[in-house]
Parts: sequence; structure tokens; C-alpha cells
Amino acid sequence: MGKDVIIACDFASAEETFKFLDKFEGKKPFVKIGMELYYAEGPSIVREIKARGHKIFLDLKLHDIPNTVKKAMAVLSRLDVDMTNLHASGTIAMMEAALEGLTRPDGTRPLLIAVTQLTSTSQERMENDLLIKEPLDEVVLHYANNAKIAGLDGVVCAPLEAGKVHDRCGNGFVTVTPGVRFADGDVGDQVRVTTPARAKELGSDYIVVGRPITAAADPVAAYERCVAEFVG
Ligand code: C5P
Repeated sequence: MGKDVIIACDFASAEETFKFLDKFEGKKPFVKIGMELYYAEGPSIVREIKARGHKIFLDLKLHDIPNTVKKAMAVLSRLDVDMTNLHASGTIAMMEAALEGLTRPDGTRPLLIAVTQLTSTSQERMENDLLIKEPLDEVVLHYANNAKIAGLDGVVCAPLEAGKVHDRCGNGFVTVTPGVRFADGDVGDQVRVTTPARAKELGSDYIVVGRPITAAADPVAAYERCVAEFVG
């Protein structure tokens, strides 16, 4: 897979989602379906968006005992998404089990990527709440390396971490990066933000963009601006 822009479809219903996607007419952007939309509408939303011809990143961030995650991934593998994810903190054993579950009888499977540390987790919260005393950057790289050992395809990380992840895990190890904003846009609740052009320079493979596109006056123009800056 090459570089691409993934639109975070953070909507509460299928109706709102289709109203948004209808604006794209002939275009079929890569979309991310997260917990909100999936829990509201169930697997049918995935099938319907797939039937419209979009690639799908199913962002459900699984984290449980290896056997449960393996069985859940086997169910998700039937939805024919292009990418899905889990928490690297579930351990290497959990990630290996997930990969096994996700692999279809014919050997094919969606890309499987790991969340390292959420971008909402600060050094202080990690130390105080989780009792992890190492520097946050090191924890992210260690978790990325665990994902690589388990055979996963890549990680979700901040654009600023993408280069380091590639240095540690190789350029073929995929980096999917949220926290993207236009230079002249609203930051919202994101903290460490990067423009699409800067994310490209930093080596991100996929940028995940939500509100700069979904809340734009002209979402199609905003998407095209992202693609022009990031893919070129
Ligand atoms: O609207 P915005 O561009 O901030 O949306 C970013 C998307 O990426 C949201 O769906 C958010 O849940 C997701 N995400 C994130 N940071 C992470 C992991 C996922 O912003 N570390």
C-alpha cells in the first residue's frame, strides 16, 4: 500500500456518515470507522461502506486475553476491511493471537497495526497511573518493536514519532498518524499537531484526518488539499 489520506468518520449514525460520503460523488476516499460509529450501527455499517467501494480502517483498538482477541479478530476478518488495530500493551502473545485470528483460511488478512501509547497519555500520567517510568518516546519505540516481533504490519503513532519508528522497525513497517491540521486551521483538542506536508516529510505512511475535513465548509476541497499536500 502507498501513502494515503484516511478520513476519520467520527459520526454517530449511518445517516450522517452517508450524508457526508455522498458529497464525494465519484471519489472513494479511504475511511476510518471508529468505536462511536461501529457501536451505534454494528457490522452493517462496515459492509455498506465497503459496498460503496471505500477502503476501510476499522479502529476498534482491541485489548483482552489472547484467546478472546483471537476469536474477535476471526469475526472481524469476515468483514473484509483493509486495516484494523489493537493495543500493543496487550503483550506480544496477544498480538500474535490476534494475527492468527485475523488470517483468513486462504491466507489473506487486513493490515494489523498496534496502538503504542495513546496521544492523550502524557509522561506524567504514564508514570503516575501506569507506573511506567521510562521516557514516553522509548515506550512507544519499545511497543512498536514488540508489534514487529509479533509479526504486525505497523503502528499508530504521532507524526513526530514516525521517523524513529521507521529507524527502529524498518521503512516497510507502516506508520499511521493522526493529529494532522492545516497550517491555517483550528487545532481543537489535539496537542502535538503536524500539517499534511510536514507528515509527509516525517515519513508517515498514512495520515488520519477527522475534523479538518469533516467539519470543513467544503469537505471535498479539504480532502483534496490533504491529498495534494501529503501524497503530492
Ligand atoms: O478530528 P481529528 O483529526 O482530531 O481526528 C483524529 C482521529 O484519530 C480521531 O478519530 C481520533 O480518535 C483518532 N486518534 C487520535 N490519536 C490517537 C489515536 C487515534 O487522534 N493516538
